[in-house]
Amino acid sequence: MTVPPTVHRAGDPGKRRAPGTGQQRGAEAGPDLIAMAPTLLMLLGATAILRADALPDTNSSLLPPVNFTVQVTGLAQVLLSWAPNPDQEQRSVRLGYHVRIRGPEEEDYQTRNTESKRVTTLHGGLRASVRTIPWEHPAAPASRWVSAELPAPPGSPGTSAANLTCSTHTAGSPGTRSRPYQVSLRCSWRAGEAAPEDTRYSLYYRYGSRTEECQEYRQDGLRRNVACWFPRTAIDGKGRDWLAVLVNGSSARAAIRPLDRLFALHAIDQVNPPGNVTAEMEGTRLSIEWEKPVSAFPAHCFDYEVKIHSTGTGYFQTGKMTTNKFTSTISDVSKYCVEVRAAVSSVCRETGLWSEWSEPIYVGNERTPWTEWYLISLVAATCSAFSLLLACKTCHLWTKLFPPVPAPKSNIKDFATTADYEKTGSGETESEIISYVEEQGLEALEDLVF
Ligand SMILES: *[C@@H]1O[C@H](CO)[C@@H](O)[C@H](O)[C@H]1NC(C)=O
Ligand SMILES: *[C@@H]1O[C@H](CO)[C@@H](O)[C@H](O)[C@H]1NC(C)=O
Ligand SMILES: *[C@@H]1O[C@H](CO)[C@@H](O)[C@H](O)[C@H]1NC(C)=O
Repeated sequence: MTVPPTVHRAGDPGKRRAPGTGQQRGAEAGPDLIAMAPTLLMLLGATAILRADALPDTNSSLLPPVNFTVQVTGLAQVLLSWAPNPDQEQRSVRLGYHVRIRGPEEEDYQTRNTESKRVTTLHGGLRASVRTIPWEHPAAPASRWVSAELPAPPGSPGTSAANLTCSTHTAGSPGTRSRPYQVSLRCSWRAGEAAPEDTRYSLYYRYGSRTEECQEYRQDGLRRNVACWFPRTAIDGKGRDWLAVLVNGSSARAAIRPLDRLFALHAIDQVNPPGNVTAEMEGTRLSIEWEKPVSAFPAHCFDYEVKIHSTGTGYFQTGKMTTNKFTSTISDVSKYCVEVRAAVSSVCRETGLWSEWSEPIYVGNERTPWTEWYLISLVAATCSAFSLLLACKTCHLWTKLFPPVPAPKSNIKDFATTADYEKTGSGETESEIISYVEEQGLEALEDLVF
């Protein structure tokens, strides 16, 4: 039996608090509370003593804060604010606040401020509560809670976008010194099953203080927007802030329920594969090198994985490393395919996704001996040389057999004829033009030689 968890789960934390449990957490008393009754009784005794000792001047209870409001200040962002209770008598204990947010993401924290900015999705509404606590005496009783609620935005059920997913991608932007990398964003979703045919979805993202609307959409079969692409965004390639995305919409037939979602950048960032992969084989030593991916992260921030395989011998090897070099000893003569991929390492960011594999490069020789290849290429070269020769002979013979009709000497007229032919554009006419020009050329050549 572990005592502290039981105490955390007990009802009003102000009344039942074990010495040393500073956290102001509380929830409904569960069935296990009853089972723990003897332990609790003991703890209650201990708490009562502590209260009497530590806080001799807290004979009247604390008053809750006033004017508590929840205000939407941006996409998936709210500001909670309140004021100290003006009727709270001044006392020697400093006061703080315990805030509890019940939304899609739950939060429970303490603060000495009277306002608090939170990032949270709002499509399901939000309920928040706050109470006054004695800051330095967490065991002392808190005030009662005051609550505020943000209703869920209106809209017909089933009309909101579904399965919203996004990914980011970094590209280099040469020439811009202040921001050498730019981050693009791609999102896609499905139209809600109850969304009318005329639904027009719009997508917005917020990163930090910047909110932008999508300008480039892709549509589904009913011409409803279901994907969006931002070629450049305000997203910081190395950033740790949440990316907030909202898809709302309009329709003449129904109110479209909005959907917002928060994305952690490390989880949606599509890292570029390593660049300039080279592989070299010296005897049995295979050395591979590459460059860090195009990324705002510096070189020491990457993990790499190398994959070497040969279809000929069935050889397969993978290796993980943090440097941009890899050497391996390979015994069989074969052709090897080398691929490398990258991921931002946990040194610089929370672990995310691997990049795609780099374009495969091949190193080493096929089992086919070189001489065979040499012969094949030699035969091929001879053949083409021979046919070229033959072709020339034929042309020449042809011009001898059918001496060209004396062509008009006017160059302007020639040009006009050619131009006319070209306009017709059929395959036949094209070849006609060629032979015509050739004849002219050959005639000129013969004139010159003879
Ligand atoms: C609470 O709000 C009311 C109305 O806006 C205002 O008159 C009052 O001064 C506020 N109280 C405190 C303690 O800020
Ligand atoms: C889409 O989302 C719904 C719930 O919102 C889920 O049941 C379904 O599996 C998802 N479909 C895909 C293709 O991800
Ligand atoms: C969608 O959300 C944006 C940003 O909050 C807002 O400006 C716009 O009016 C909303 N559109 C609809 C149809 O609700």
